[in-house]
Amino acid sequence: MKNFININDVVDYKSLVKQAIFLKNNSHAFKKIGENKILGMIFFNPSLRTRLSTLKAASLLGLNTMIMNFNNEGWNLEFEDQSIMSGDKAEHIKEAAKVISQYCDIIAIRAFATLTNKVDDEGEKIINSFLKYATVPVLNMESSIAHPLQALADAITIKENIKTSKPKVVLSWAPHPKALPHAVANSFVNMMKVTDYEFVIANPEGYNLNPEITQGIKVIYDQKKAFKNADFIYAKNWSSYDNYGKILLNDNSWLINTEKMELTNNAKFMHCLPVRRNVIVSDKVIDSDNSLVIQQANNRTYAAQIILKKMITNEK
Ligand code: CP
Repeated sequence: MKNFININDVVDYKSLVKQAIFLKNNSHAFKKIGENKILGMIFFNPSLRTRLSTLKAASLLGLNTMIMNFNNEGWNLEFEDQSIMSGDKAEHIKEAAKVISQYCDIIAIRAFATLTNKVDDEGEKIINSFLKYATVPVLNMESSIAHPLQALADAITIKENIKTSKPKVVLSWAPHPKALPHAVANSFVNMMKVTDYEFVIANPEGYNLNPEITQGIKVIYDQKKAFKNADFIYAKNWSSYDNYGKILLNDNSWLINTEKMELTNNAKFMHCLPVRRNVIVSDKVIDSDNSLVIQQANNRTYAAQIILKKMITNEK
């Protein structure tokens, strides 16, 4: 694997999940594979899990790491070609990406959607510019429209908790006071599309995800109906895609609570974190034995470890 940008870069998802679970049980098995190599981690946005789990994964492979929080530590970057840089942009991505490539063997990037311009966000300006100008492989630590490391950790978590060969998995929209990007939901959908699970999306009208991503997936506008007989409930907020970046619903009618979870087949509760308690999900649900959120966060390490291993060795 040269770059890991989205779920489509995975050739065989079942084998990848299996290999990640092997690493979880044998996390020091490849501790020399990254020796004398450096992972550069560039953050344009905050992070707890992605930052620490990727650092841990790198350390388990013997990789050295460098981190830069670009927004407050780097020069303001220009991305446009042929721009006259007389404003506040002090450095062009062309030089920055090439310079960073000299210091690192892999560049990992976190750069969220702005949610102000759909075309720009879908163009993945930051990560695509690094892909264009960097001379080393690029790893997506959450871009405008994809969070594949999270989706891989989620697939590992489902695999570890599966009780039937074809579980019903529901991705449920849930409320949030701020407009959030679509990246986690998009990558989870893409991951579910390559499984043979029964998969449905529950969201209020006006909150359909990008139809190119959800093509062929059942979307239900009635959350309680969707929850019936579910084995896994994956909660996530996203802002409107059609009315791009807008919040259309301000009440708590889609909050995930015990009453709704009781409609399911004793479903496990999932969320990528961070989560707003009693806004997205009630305390009782997230604190219940059926909550997998901490296990999901733990699996971020092994998702990152297997991907970094494949990038170092250029295995498929
Ligand atoms: N789930 C996730 O990506 O968490 P962070 O934003 O804390 O990295």
